Amino acid sequence: MVEIRPARTSDIKGIRSLIDHFALQRLLLSKETVTLYESVQEFTVALEGDEVVGCAALHILWEDLAEVRTVAVIDRLKGTGVGHRLLEAVIDRAKIIGVKRIFCLTFETQFFGRHGFEEIHGTPVEPDVYQQLLRSYDAGIAEFLDLESVKPNTLGNTRMLKKL
Ligand SMILES: CC(C)(COP(=O)(O)OP(=O)(O)OC[C@H]1O[C@@H](n2cnc3c(N)ncnc32)[C@H](O)[C@@H]1OP(=O)(O)O)[C@@H](O)C(=O)NCCC(=O)NCCS
Repeated sequence: MVEIRPARTSDIKGIRSLIDHFALQRLLLSKETVTLYESVQEFTVALEGDEVVGCAALHILWEDLAEVRTVAVIDRLKGTGVGHRLLEAVIDRAKIIGVKRIFCLTFETQFFGRHGFEEIHGTPVEPDVYQQLLRSYDAGIAEFLDLESVKPNTLGNTRMLKKL
């Protein structure tokens, strides 16, 4: 049985190995371990017993905007519904927090499409928000804003957006 719940600090080692596995395949961006501990409150995990078998994170960017990132499920359990349960939990969390739009950067367009994410073109933020997001640059934000010149670190995947 797989349980879905908010992450604890003791889950970070498991999240770390999931990210390492998929970063090698260039499906996820790698993260420093300290960054994972700092952002533990963003994570939802899937557990089978004590083992972390999946994770997903919600990163808030603005009053109305968040990113769902680092969605991963261990190979052994792929295709059994764990990913969809994680994504649902993250979407529910986004609604509780109050954001109105969530985006993701992914190759898994069909998977996210099932939850109402649609491919986007252009930059769906106001110019002043754009400028302020730029100041807190990270790779995900850069790719979301489609900043070709400042995204050497990203994976070249599809930008998708869901309205809540
Ligand atoms: C993308 C990813 C998270 C999906 O996780 P998953 O646990 O395999 O997803 P699910 O099992 O919920 O759904 C996958 C497919 O399995 C099938 N499925 C879902 N529930 C099922 C069930 N109970 N029984 C049988 N099949 C099922 C569906 O056909 C589903 O297809 P869909 O994606 O077109 O809807 C996983 O493949 C992964 O870790 N990929 C690598 C990392 C990555 O690319 N992450 C996305 C970028 S953030």
